[in-house]
Amino acid sequence: MTAFSFQTVPSLKFGEPAAEALAAMLGNFGAKRLMIITDPGVVSAGLVDPVASALTELGLTVAVYDDVEADPPQAKVLAAVSAAQDFGAEAIVGLGGGSPMDTAKLVALLCRSTQALGDMYGVAQVDRAQIAEGRLPLFQVPTTAGTGSEVTPIAIVTVGAEIKLGVVDPILYADGAVLDPSLTVGLPPHVTAHTGIDAMVHAIEAYTSKVRKNPLSDGLAQQALTLLAAGLPAAMADGSNVRARGDMLLGAMLAGQAFANAPVAAVHALAYPIGALFHVPHGLSNTQVLGPVLRYNAETHPDLYAELADLLVPGSAGSVSQRAGNFIEYMERLTADCGVNPRLREVGISHNDLPKLAEDAMKQTRLLQNNLREMTYDAALEIYTQAL
Ligand SMILES: NC(=O)c1ccc[n+]([C@@H]2O[C@H](COP(=O)([O-])OP(=O)(O)OC[C@H]3O[C@@H](n4cnc5c(N)ncnc54)[C@H](O)[C@@H]3O)[C@@H](O)[C@H]2O)c1
Ligand SMILES: [Fe+2]
Repeated sequence: MTAFSFQTVPSLKFGEPAAEALAAMLGNFGAKRLMIITDPGVVSAGLVDPVASALTELGLTVAVYDDVEADPPQAKVLAAVSAAQDFGAEAIVGLGGGSPMDTAKLVALLCRSTQALGDMYGVAQVDRAQIAEGRLPLFQVPTTAGTGSEVTPIAIVTVGAEIKLGVVDPILYADGAVLDPSLTVGLPPHVTAHTGIDAMVHAIEAYTSKVRKNPLSDGLAQQALTLLAAGLPAAMADGSNVRARGDMLLGAMLAGQAFANAPVAAVHALAYPIGALFHVPHGLSNTQVLGPVLRYNAETHPDLYAELADLLVPGSAGSVSQRAGNFIEYMERLTADCGVNPRLREVGISHNDLPKLAEDAMKQTRLLQNNLREMTYDAALEIYTQAL
């Protein structure tokens, strides 16, 4: 068997009320001043006050920073860092979807580092010599069942007007993650669909990643897909179905553990420019390129997609190529059943925008190197054309 390594967060709690689970985790760190990083949507969904009040009652001094923007712009991340420093935060909690959780990671790090954020983008660029005492204790509480950011060492930032870059470093693994399905019950249907499909794409890309795919990430990706394939349609049919919400939250987390170790590839690489240039939600942009990217990959590398058909598509049979096709059609049907229209033109993208999208996608070398099949500018342009 090929050598591999695997990392994840050291402590996970599933199913307990978030405040209690958090309090138990925090107890081991001795932090008294806690900053919750969140966004206005999570606040107005009523998810922040109960957690903040319960932690205050337990004797902690709690501040809430609620100004995170979706697809966090770099300036907004730095504003959150200043707020945490002004407050004198001793621990950071990310409470929300990927945007607050990614921001929380960077706040916990930058509060203690003299290195500029701009020098941290890429893989393992965080300079330990510039962090005097290690990052602040960091805890994550997802309120979307999507990114899996609670268990990944990745923070995605929008830099300038239009490029999304990642800080990828093991220092960003949280000290603990709390999965409370009740926090996701009020997710609007379109957010449920977009974030749930994002989670499925994480599992698909981890399972088919050219590098660092390993028996643990494979098992996690398969289990994630099984849970999400059942949970997503059930949660779309009835958002208050806590069992389905729990399956989705668990599935998204397992997919996060998978792709933290077997990284995502061309679907994400081609989705990022759509998100950055046209402010399309992350899960929707993934859906827009999903079918065309999978078809491109399956032309030369159908085997792993055929295996996923065996896992998910009832009655899938035939040659490896036919089964790979069955899987791609299954995913397209599932996204359509969730009411997600994947056409690029629906979000205001025109034929003239496609060369710029393809150019920017080719800059996502961190992701493209993981893709089963080599991605070229021409292939990316063709994929966007198919998605138009
Ligand atoms: N770190 C990682 O490993 C990783 C992986 C994938 C994506 N990402 C990044 O995560 C971000 C996307 O995260 P996301 O898809 O979770 O969306 P998000 O965090 O941007 O949130 C989307 C919207 O949903 C609202 N929302 C969140 N939870 C809610 C709830 N329970 N009820 C009602 N509304 C709620 C938010 O207020 C916001 O308006 C992007 O920046 C993406 O690049 C990070
Ligand atoms: Fe994603």
